Amino acid sequence: MPLLEVYGVSKRFGGVTALSDVSVGLEKNEIVGLIGPNGAGKTSFFNSITGLLPVDSGQIHFTDPVLRLDGLSPERVLRAGVARTFQNLRVFKNMTVCENVAIGFHSRTRSGLMDAFLRTPRHRREEKEIFSQSAALLEFIGLDGKENEIAGSLPYGSQKRLEIARALASGPKLLLLDEPVAGMNPREKEEISALIRRIRSEGTAVFIIEHDMRVVMPLCDRVVVMDEGRKIAEGKPAEIRKDPRVIHAYLGELD
Ligand SMILES: Nc1ncnc2c1ncn2[C@@H]1O[C@H](COP(=O)(O)OP(=O)(O)OP(=O)(O)O)[C@@H](O)[C@H]1O
Ligand SMILES: [Mg+2]
Repeated sequence: MPLLEVYGVSKRFGGVTALSDVSVGLEKNEIVGLIGPNGAGKTSFFNSITGLLPVDSGQIHFTDPVLRLDGLSPERVLRAGVARTFQNLRVFKNMTVCENVAIGFHSRTRSGLMDAFLRTPRHRREEKEIFSQSAALLEFIGLDGKENEIAGSLPYGSQKRLEIARALASGPKLLLLDEPVAGMNPREKEEISALIRRIRSEGTAVFIIEHDMRVVMPLCDRVVVMDEGRKIAEGKPAEIRKDPRVIHAYLGELD
């Protein structure tokens, strides 16, 4: 059962074709890798799915709930159940770890700005609930005990985890991770891979952009390869590794 179906998405920036007729499907409970050289269009593809980059043509269908994502605002896409992290760290550095995660929960709470302003009982109840759920999520992500630390004071690897926690707080059915282990050492990469497997086993599909093949190959059920805005290959990791088009795009960098 497909969860996400992208049909023929294209996007140009002046003379640059960032995305050219890209079609990708993703099943429920799948971990799919998105690889390709620098400038291939990987981040642009995530931006188009999450409403940050309006596409020139093509369609983006979500099936749970059934909804066209193209044309929606980033906030609506998040509410539909598609959360993401960014290639460059985007945590609120001056806020505590717990507050950062609480922001993620707010995308699915019912009380509005007026409730918050008036500090209505409903708002207070939700705040309490959010902070206890944040604590549970921080334990899941491996940041328990850090609730009250200032996010900006955490080591880089922990801030990357925190960003994943914030995305998970929205309760996504699909999580898009843009280079979640960039800049990490091999041990941290292994830990994040294990975390991604646990996220999947909790029922969230994962679409991950990553350059390190030692991370992608053992983790992903399927790999999509882009080059110069196009999808050039798609298949199981073992097939992708041998694909001449992929080897050519990477000029033999795959090992
Ligand atoms: N907002 C923008 N305005 C103009 N050009 C852009 C914009 N965003 C992306 N591009 C261009 O689109 C192309 C694809 O960029 P994108 O960031 O999607 O690649 P990427 O595969 O994520 O690369 P990397 O591995 O370096 O992160 C590049 O040529 C880039 O310069
Ligand atoms: Mg990128």
